[in-house]
Amino acid sequence: MDTFAHRRGLLITIDGPAGAGKSTTARALASRLGYAYLDTGALYRAVAWVVRRADIDCADVEAMKTLLSSTDFHVSLDEGVTRTFIDDEEITGYLRSPGISRLASAVAALPYVRDRLLPIQARYSRDGGIVAEGRDMGTRVFPEADVKFFLEADLDTRTSRRHQETVRDGHPETQRDVRLAIEERDTNDRSRETAPLKPAADAVVIDSSSLTVEQVVERMLAWIPGHS
Ligand code: DC
Repeated sequence: MDTFAHRRGLLITIDGPAGAGKSTTARALASRLGYAYLDTGALYRAVAWVVRRADIDCADVEAMKTLLSSTDFHVSLDEGVTRTFIDDEEITGYLRSPGISRLASAVAALPYVRDRLLPIQARYSRDGGIVAEGRDMGTRVFPEADVKFFLEADLDTRTSRRHQETVRDGHPETQRDVRLAIEERDTNDRSRETAPLKPAADAVVIDSSSLTVEQVVERMLAWIPGHS
């Protein structure tokens, strides 16, 4: 019996460190499959943005909890640009700066931030037909996912990819600053106690250092039932 018959499609997860090519690959894969793309990093960036706007110290647990419980976080599930909203306010354009990236990684280490975003992310899984990208998709948010990928790349490759992104996004940074920021975020994301960045036991690990986006997508398709 086809257990997926009643569903719109599979639930596919892609986790990995900053700069490994997750977003580009996840978008390309979603588009190849006709699936929706979920960027969960945007939700952590949105939390960072509201915390900064409210001028709250992350260590002030009560203030943080009050702020989080009174704010609604939402991302659009499209195949192009992910639009991010807090309550009804769109904040998409404010989320890619180095300061927000650093603060997003810091707030992502707080268990109550992760708990607040968990049900929000889970709601997006619908009946499948989604490629979800983040750090703990396969380990915590969607442990039941049909196919899980963990995308790696060496530090030089990730630095140069992120550097190009900063230029493209209009926040150009030096290669050295980009490298240091990636190393700092990696350490944070991998060493935190709650949902640290690591491959799920049943994830397919792909090193994208010497592969093009198309080659990574082809490798992924080979693992997806009905698409090899
Ligand atoms: O993918 P990104 O760079 O937009 O993510 C921003 C930060 O959010 C990242 O440093 C770690 C955190 N994050 C997380 O902890 N869990 C996720 N599922 C997605 C992002």
